[in-house]
Amino acid sequence: MRATCCLLCICCLAACEKAKQDMYDQPQYKPFAESAWFSDGSSSRTPPDNAVVYSRGPFAGTSSGRAGAGEAAEDIAATSAKSNPYSVTMGLLKRGQERYAIYCLPCHSPAGDGDGLIARRGFPHPPSYHIDRLRQAPDRHFFDVMSKGYGIMHSYADRVAPPDRWAIVAYIRALQLSQHADANSLPPEARQQLAKAPEGPR
Ligand code: HEC
Repeated sequence: MRATCCLLCICCLAACEKAKQDMYDQPQYKPFAESAWFSDGSSSRTPPDNAVVYSRGPFAGTSSGRAGAGEAAEDIAATSAKSNPYSVTMGLLKRGQERYAIYCLPCHSPAGDGDGLIARRGFPHPPSYHIDRLRQAPDRHFFDVMSKGYGIMHSYADRVAPPDRWAIVAYIRALQLSQHADANSLPPEARQQLAKAPEGPR
């Protein structure tokens, strides 16, 4: 009886292996093959009007992902740049602010002082971006921290594309300036607002 059971199990497992193999090897059409399924006799479909061809990431390198080639080149240029290769426009800062809010703010806080909610709940506090060492660190240091990680901080290379890393660097520079700006360099309206603002940390 035990031997029969064993045999049955082995047969079942073998069948599993066969089914798994079938999933690797599914029926599929070769590009431009004929098909009786569609009325025009072709298995290839025309994209709907106004469809935008888009490809990014590992698939961008495949023959079907030519549209991603431009972005891949941009990624390479951004990765090899020694300092921020983009001019600091409001668009770049807004993009950096948005990406910062998604990926960095939970630990580094909206003000960049390292007192984010995750740190408050027990994760080690990151250093403040406003310490002298980080104010004097070159742009590339911030880019490298995102690309490779730093100490116990993970790398964000798989989540933040290289051009976006520079947008975040520009935004961190704006955060740093926000804490160390010389009041005399502000436009008159901003100076008036500042004079009206209550004293002390907010
Ligand atoms: C999960 C929490 C967390 C997130 C999210 C996070 N960091 Fe950090 N970060 C840390 C911690 C913790 C450190 C300190 C690491 C150490 O010294 O071991 C750190 C350190 C840093 C430093 C300082 C490196 C130095 O020279 O001391 C920079 C710059 C930095 N992070 C940038 C970023 C940016 C930009 C993002 C978003 C793309 C980000 N971090 C997302 C936790 C985080």
